[in-house]
Amino acid sequence: MRKTTGGGFGVSCLGALALVAGLAIAAPKPAAAGGSVEVLHWWTAGGEAKAVSALKDQFEAEGGTWIDSPVAGGGGDAAMTALRSRVIAGNPPSAVQLKGPSIQEWAAEGVVANLDDIAKAENWDKLLPALLKSVVTYEGHYVAVPVNIHRVDWLWANPAVLAKAGVAVPTTWDEFNTAAEALKAKGIIPLAHGGQPWQDATLFEVVVLGLGGPAFYHKALVELDDAALRGETMVKVFDQMRRLRGFVDPNFSGRDWNLATAMVINGEAAFQIMGDWAKGEFLGAGKVPGKDFLCIAAPGKGFLLNSDSLVMFDVKGADKIEGQKTLARLVLGEKFQRTFNTLKGSIPARQGMDLADFDACAQKSQADLTKAIAADSLEPSMAHEMAVPRSVRGAIMDVVTAHFNSSESSAEAVAHLADAIARAR
Ligand code: BGC
Repeated sequence: MRKTTGGGFGVSCLGALALVAGLAIAAPKPAAAGGSVEVLHWWTAGGEAKAVSALKDQFEAEGGTWIDSPVAGGGGDAAMTALRSRVIAGNPPSAVQLKGPSIQEWAAEGVVANLDDIAKAENWDKLLPALLKSVVTYEGHYVAVPVNIHRVDWLWANPAVLAKAGVAVPTTWDEFNTAAEALKAKGIIPLAHGGQPWQDATLFEVVVLGLGGPAFYHKALVELDDAALRGETMVKVFDQMRRLRGFVDPNFSGRDWNLATAMVINGEAAFQIMGDWAKGEFLGAGKVPGKDFLCIAAPGKGFLLNSDSLVMFDVKGADKIEGQKTLARLVLGEKFQRTFNTLKGSIPARQGMDLADFDACAQKSQADLTKAIAADSLEPSMAHEMAVPRSVRGAIMDVVTAHFNSSESSAEAVAHLADAIARAR
């Protein structure tokens, strides 16, 4: 780990050597105000791109130079492959969108910078909720700055389409199935979905939470408890996944998530199950929450947490190190948190902000988060890399996608799931 502030580095040998080399190269040229930063991210859909460009604008307003490195692909799998090859080539980007245990995995490899000095100067200990602090620290040191709080277990709906089919907002999975059948009978696509492994996994974890409840979700998808994975509840989860497969249109395979959202926006489909980055698409299309679209908590109890962070990698050169400092400071600032999260569909990672200007969906998210923390029903998203290592997530996604695209029975899928997880651990 390398300290972004320079001087007195209690760091790994690798990081220290890299820094010494970096300072030697940068010595003749003092860093420009703001510095420069290359940011690797997968925020390429409409709302996402607007949000990231707000960060770029703020960074440039500080005198910094922004180098944008977007890698398209929802859920970030393509971006993570790109990151791995950049690090192996010894040329990491300065800042990378990362989450959950992956942050710890990269920190353990000794290739990330230490942000303790910025954290101290900006009082991050006070600004960050406990639930995010543990995600962005490694062995007691800050290695990332959290950007947002996304909720995954949302059901997005087009109210005009529901009204056309005489369907009410469902509050249980049985009601959802009944509503979906009614929509199908009217020739409306009940569920807009994109058949990509991370999207299949998003449906799956929302159903696990909804049918099993937070305690079951925790046992199965966080603790990876073999008995929970092989039990009756998991059979029911796969039964529901089979029902959902019957509610998507024939062209779902490979579709990007934002195109699925567009189907709800334009009335082609009634529902989408997706995290609240989908809200950025509704808002970008000029739609008004509560009127043109509904944000409904997916059936069940709890709150599935996903939070993006920016991890600063160990780069060489005073200009780049200055850029990392500027970026880390801006990201947790109130101005950035307000602008970015309004566009992105998320709520601030920074505690104590007044959300009066945020829309009703964001206010519901904040209220439900507070309730979930009190009721101990806040759970980390498996599909969005908050819960388990990437290898385990990959094994789960393979099984879920294989089941979704075949006629495999629920009992077979359950056995495959538990076996695949046991092998991946
Ligand atoms: C990220 C979001 C992003 C979404 C779709 C999630 O895993 O956390 O920031 O908008 O994927 O790409």
